[in-house]
Amino acid sequence: MRNDALRSSKRRSPWLILLVLAILLLIAAWALSRVLNSSGDAAAQLSQPVTPALIAQGEVLARAGDCVACHTAHGGKPFAGGLGIQSPIGTIYSTNITPDKSTGIGSWSYGDFERAVRRGIGHDGSALYPAMPFPSYAKVTDADSEALYAYFMNAVAPVQQANQANDIPFPLSARWPLAYWRSLFAPLPGSGAPVAAATDPQIARGAYLVQGLGHCGSCHTPRALTMQEKGLDDSSAHYLGGAELNQWAVPPLRGVKHWSAQELVAYLATGRNSTASVAGEMKDVVQNSTSHMSQEDLQAIAAYLKSIPGDDRPVAADLEARRSATIHTLTAATDLDLGQRLYLDNCGACHFVTGQGAPRTFPRLDGASIINSPNPTGLIHVILAGAQTPSTAQAPSILPMPGFAGRMDDSEVAALATFLRQGWGNDAPAVSAGQVEDVRKGLPVKHVGEAALGANNAQ
Ligand code: HEC
Ligand code: HEC
Ligand code: HEC
Repeated sequence: MRNDALRSSKRRSPWLILLVLAILLLIAAWALSRVLNSSGDAAAQLSQPVTPALIAQGEVLARAGDCVACHTAHGGKPFAGGLGIQSPIGTIYSTNITPDKSTGIGSWSYGDFERAVRRGIGHDGSALYPAMPFPSYAKVTDADSEALYAYFMNAVAPVQQANQANDIPFPLSARWPLAYWRSLFAPLPGSGAPVAAATDPQIARGAYLVQGLGHCGSCHTPRALTMQEKGLDDSSAHYLGGAELNQWAVPPLRGVKHWSAQELVAYLATGRNSTASVAGEMKDVVQNSTSHMSQEDLQAIAAYLKSIPGDDRPVAADLEARRSATIHTLTAATDLDLGQRLYLDNCGACHFVTGQGAPRTFPRLDGASIINSPNPTGLIHVILAGAQTPSTAQAPSILPMPGFAGRMDDSEVAALATFLRQGWGNDAPAVSAGQVEDVRKGLPVKHVGEAALGANNAQ
């Protein structure tokens, strides 16, 4: 008996030692994460007096950073937080960043604010989730970071609203491993040299806005398996190379050869230009952020985007021939296949047999990014649910695009989308009925009558 017990305890002991070692390692890793979270100076104060000019500058910068988009719940008070942001491990809720003393950031020092915005470290010294785009905001200058603080503390209305706890299961909810993620993938303020690499001051300004506050890469740059953007500036060939967001294709922004700088400015200022109109999550970016930017800043962004090399998709030699072939087929209107017939019957009145639409009213379908992207989800979504450019200060919303969910079944939409992706100069793979079915399932449920009418489903 005694011998048996001895033997078994001997057998167990290596495991015990391993367990103790693992616990010690975990404690050491946790302790080191506290050290990593000590970057910056939480006690720092503003280096300048708060003036109306500084506050006004901060307001412009808050627009450029689109803080309101994430820090406002649907139907909630501006900046009071509570918007749920989906992540692979659960829902993260944005926080109250109004200057309310008990539930917001009203009692924060400048240092607390700077650490959260540029370093991803929360008020209590724990690491923030990168749902807050601090890897981009690290590029914000000291002067701009101070102006933002001045604006939030002095010009935003305080709202008393407690933060909502994140919906992430234990042990994934432990924040300390995030400190390691951040040390590996997020730069520290002042370390983002490539911004200054451009010698042209206009391009440098554009690079600063796009890479920094604009955090354009958080949607337009592909992410690695470990979730960081594959590049935070144009020293990486992946930067702004196009990505996918909630199954919607996000087009590349490198070079944007298909638009002039003026067309880029118009798109960012009003959500439309002579060839395209905005859809998907870019609508909110235009409405909350870019439509409030100054012409000079938008021109700087356009100049920078156009300066990035890498848009070398070859122009097909037979482009003109293919264009006229499609126009000819649609005009003759005999022997049409299903997709062509559906186009003529449902779309041609606004987008025309040329697929050229009409400037600033009906977007061009020949050459549109949403039609040619590898992932057709955005296109299917627009055909089913319609689209409407948001109203901006400079351009009220005009005609919406009607939705066709109630008028076409999945195989009809697939045939139509396939025609669009292969008609005129467009060149993208065919769409299947299964792909349409998947998008349809994700649409908000409509009343039967509405669906049958195929009513104006603009979301
Ligand atoms: C893409 C969405 C997004 C944008 C844009 C964004 N935030 Fe955040 N922010 C978040 C989320 C989500 C959190 C909470 C992160 C967490 O709990 O770890 C957060 C946290 C914060 C915190 C820390 C709050 C706390 O209680 O610890 C501050 C301060 C903050 N954001 C300020 C800003 C400012 C200023 C801007 C604009 C320059 C901005 N945020 C833009 C999503 C965003
Ligand atoms: C929240 C995610 C998100 C952010 C942030 C974002 N974009 Fe976009 N952007 C999109 C999506 C989605 C589209 C596709 C829109 C469509 O299908 O109509 C898009 C489209 C565009 C287009 C149209 C390109 C084309 O070829 O049609 C431009 C230009 C653009 N974005 C510029 C920017 C700039 C500049 C910024 C930063 C200031 C930015 N975006 C930030 C999601 C985003
Ligand atoms: C009554 C006129 C009208 C009809 C009919 C119509 N459209 Fe549109 N379409 C528009 C308008 C207006 C927009 C721009 C909406 C906006 O402001 O975002 C648009 C936008 C689009 C877009 C997005 C383009 C971009 O650059 O983002 C696509 C794709 C599209 N339509 C395809 C179709 C297809 C396919 C049909 C037929 C099933 C069709 N449209 C029928 C008016 C129309």
